[in-house]
Amino acid sequence: MSSAPAGSGALSRLGWDELRAAVADCRACGLCESRTQTVFGVGHLRAHWMIVGEAPGAQEDAQGEPFVGAAGQLLDAMLRALALTREADGDPARRAYIANTLKCRPPGNRNPQADELAQCEPFLLRQIELVQPRLILAMGRFAVQALLRSNEPIGRLRGRVHRYQGVPLVVTYHPAYLLRNLPDKAKAWEDLCLAADVAESGAAPGEESARAATGAPGASSGPDAQPVP
Ligand code: URA
Repeated sequence: MSSAPAGSGALSRLGWDELRAAVADCRACGLCESRTQTVFGVGHLRAHWMIVGEAPGAQEDAQGEPFVGAAGQLLDAMLRALALTREADGDPARRAYIANTLKCRPPGNRNPQADELAQCEPFLLRQIELVQPRLILAMGRFAVQALLRSNEPIGRLRGRVHRYQGVPLVVTYHPAYLLRNLPDKAKAWEDLCLAADVAESGAAPGEESARAATGAPGASSGPDAQPVP
């Protein structure tokens, strides 16, 4: 394979346009052979929220935008419940930038492989550096593996504030998982409320320890406020 990302060092000087072009040209792993197009990311370039998912699916591969399928509709509903959107302009405090750990669709929606995640990670790292979010929301196992280097289950990592490159990071379930496991939506809502608390106020002393979720701005907490579309 050619055109490797060449590590985060080589990307660390790239601006948005150059980074987007580098992703579009990437042939660092075998996923370049089967992709329709790369799926770079979407949202406000200085959004306070950075949302990290897993990898494009069929619809994302076709449209070139992350989270446009069923999981994406749930994600948008969750964001709406927090008065957030993926729009590129407007108030950065009310915007999310959305990106995946992999920029290309794994064929048949299989799980990402370790070498693919390793090759693609520098792109995500540079996106995070450019956005400078107040808060990263890592959704699902592969986002957590990439950002926290942890194989622990989501259930054991959620409910507290972690850090990625100094940025507060909250772990939650992937929306595709939530579509199959409706009862866990209540837990995901708790995670979003914790994330909103951190995004508004910054991580408090005592992060890394269990923190109670608090109500999100403009929305009441509890099961009735779950972002069920
Ligand atoms: N699931 C993801 O993790 N990312 C997408 O873009 C779509 C589905």
